[in-house]
Amino acid sequence: MNVSIIGTGYVGLTTGVCLGYLGHKVTCIDSDEKKIALLRSGKTPIYEPYLTELMAEAQPNLRFCSNLAGAVNNADVIFIAVGTPPAPDGSPDLRYLSQVARGIGEHYAGDFVVVVNKSTVPIGSGNWVDSLIRESYEQHHGRKANGNFCVASNPEFLREGTALHDSLYADRVVVGSDDSRALEVLYSLYRPILDQTFAAPTYLPRPERIGAVPLISTDLASAELIKYAANAFLALKISYINEISHLAEKVGADIAQVGKGIGLDARIGTRFLQAGIGWGGSCFGKDTSALVSTAKEYNLTMPIVQAARDVNSRQRDRVVAKLLGELKILKGRTIGLLGLAFKPNTDDLREAPAIDIAKKLIDRGCKVRVHDPVAMERFQQEYATLGAICCDSPEEVADEADALVLVTEWPEYRELDFEALAARMHCRVILDGRNALDRARLTRFGYRYIGIA
Ligand SMILES: NC(=O)c1ccc[n+]([C@@H]2O[C@H](COP(=O)([O-])OP(=O)(O)OC[C@H]3O[C@@H](n4cnc5c(N)ncnc54)[C@H](O)[C@@H]3O)[C@@H](O)[C@H]2O)c1
Repeated sequence: MNVSIIGTGYVGLTTGVCLGYLGHKVTCIDSDEKKIALLRSGKTPIYEPYLTELMAEAQPNLRFCSNLAGAVNNADVIFIAVGTPPAPDGSPDLRYLSQVARGIGEHYAGDFVVVVNKSTVPIGSGNWVDSLIRESYEQHHGRKANGNFCVASNPEFLREGTALHDSLYADRVVVGSDDSRALEVLYSLYRPILDQTFAAPTYLPRPERIGAVPLISTDLASAELIKYAANAFLALKISYINEISHLAEKVGADIAQVGKGIGLDARIGTRFLQAGIGWGGSCFGKDTSALVSTAKEYNLTMPIVQAARDVNSRQRDRVVAKLLGELKILKGRTIGLLGLAFKPNTDDLREAPAIDIAKKLIDRGCKVRVHDPVAMERFQQEYATLGAICCDSPEEVADEADALVLVTEWPEYRELDFEALAARMHCRVILDGRNALDRARLTRFGYRYIGIA
């Protein structure tokens, strides 16, 4: 099929590369010309494992361009994958979505295309996008768009860091539309994934036990709600274990064992039950906030989702409180943060706990030294004014530090020579924000180890 994807960020680019790899002809469009120039040179603007490799394999089927005109006309399917960041009031900012919808109406001159919202959009946005496209089409073509467009929702569930794996070997594919033609087109598009008939890339082997990938084919509103409800559930699972970790700390229980003991119940599951400094990233915060805000439009409250948000923000204060408890005075202290990205294997800093924690510590008069294996460049571009000291290595972060905080559980941080690091520190305090380090080993090297719980 001919596919156009508008927005080549974490979602759009992953989707485009995967669909190109499966044999579809894909045009990736982004208004950021620098991104397009980089992509044309075979490089990727984001860090995502194996993306460069898969992009090279899919290259004969990929085209990159920076404007809609001429890039949507031959399409059978147009995906919208632009950002929907949070507006100050917590609702999603839909200005990019609306620009793109109008642009499609203006530039599409073919007979029939399915427009798919892959961006996470509030419930009801499918209908809104449909009306924007039609309005713009009529305005620019001087006639009504009768039957030329239909709109679908195809929420994305990929996790940054394993985005390609999650796309090729999805747990499920959700498509929603009130027009059966859209559902048929999307079924054909995703067939190689649903039936797992494609040859797996050598570096992304097919999981052994994967069978046919379930397809949830539903109406627009249900597909849109599935995305929000899924993210809110994952977010509250994390907040739940973090809340339990407070009590565990008071009663002297081991939260890792508690999490395991809960999670081995098949109804619950072990994933997302690791206590730590809480979630970050571009989705959970924004999507839980959007859910609360949508509910408000219907005079509903969402106390469970709101509580998950509150617990998450409390976790970040807890880091500062724990350091204060240990060091007594924070003013003038040097604190080293290991990890900036909101999780390992990505360079994404959106709503990363490290940024919030660095700000809180700097506000309290600390010097904050930071390191990340892949996100340093992005950090320097996006947070130059924060006042943190960028270090080239974890060793440099440890220099004269009064405490180290493990913020992102990059595998390489687990393997650090903590004995050598200790020798460079002023005080041997380590706050393991992810409960990922070996307490006994660190204690042997003379550290005062503080975990979450
Ligand atoms: N990142 C994730 O893990 C993830 C997972 C699931 C769903 N989502 C959702 O997918 C959507 C995209 O997220 P993302 O992380 O890929 O965002 P992103 O910010 O990485 O990418 C968005 C891209 O859209 C481009 N863009 C903006 N306006 C444009 C326009 N008018 N024309 C063309 N391009 C335009 C931007 O330049 C940018 O490259 C969001 O709604 C997000 O909530 C994200």
